[in-house]
Amino acid sequence: MTTIEYANVSYLFDRITGQILPEEMVNTIRNFIVTENLYMSATREIVTKLENLNSEFKSSHARNPIHSIHSRVKTPMRIVNKLQKRGLEISVDSARYNLTDIAGVRVICPYIDDIYLVANMLLSQDDIKLIRTSDYIKNPKANGYRSLHHIVTVPVFLSTKVEIVNVEIQIRTIAMDFWASLEHELAYKLSDSKEESVFNELKGCANEIAEIDKRMQHLFNITINQNNQKDL
Ligand code: GTP
Ligand code: MG
Repeated sequence: MTTIEYANVSYLFDRITGQILPEEMVNTIRNFIVTENLYMSATREIVTKLENLNSEFKSSHARNPIHSIHSRVKTPMRIVNKLQKRGLEISVDSARYNLTDIAGVRVICPYIDDIYLVANMLLSQDDIKLIRTSDYIKNPKANGYRSLHHIVTVPVFLSTKVEIVNVEIQIRTIAMDFWASLEHELAYKLSDSKEESVFNELKGCANEIAEIDKRMQHLFNITINQNNQKDL
């Protein structure tokens, strides 16, 4: 048995109440801490790449294709919950193998075309490997959800080795993000409501928002063309 300060691990496992833990559990917790750090590093690698692309684009094209970037690493508690829900083994190895969204980066762009521009710039980098794409813009979800999702791997250089780490990247417009944020909140509050009218209303909002995105893209294209003609 090993003594471990509860204060240091309470954020990892809500239900640990004792001060004395079996050796095996201490090792598991240590592994989770090491893994959490690894995924935080992977997230920083991706965020830095995106920030560099955004600032370079600003200096060469006088505008930012990225409006904002948000990132998060799933807490060990949420990792354990997800593994449990899927009936998978609860261990760090199982989490690393089975879950591709432990590290998540959300990129918000002004216009629809910026989404693909940013994705292509990132994916063309030699150290980024694309694992899976879900294009919910070309193929929106049944509820109207739109966003471009990529699962990629990025190498993280540690003191004695290099680890290849999965990161989920969601890229969407400001308008798509507006809908997704509110839908997420509403879906949570309305989780008991199976009402078709609510579902249809949310989907209707998503479709209207998608139309506005197209109109804003059209306006942007007009301004670009006008500026190009002025430069001739
Ligand atoms: P997860 O197990 O939730 O990660 O789903 P998945 O592996 O099937 O991947 P998917 O691409 O469907 O969704 C991944 C993430 O996209 C979710 O965790 C959400 O952040 C976001 N997302 C997907 N569908 C919706 C949706 O209908 N509404 C909102 N607000 N977000 C969604
Ligand atoms: Mg997820």
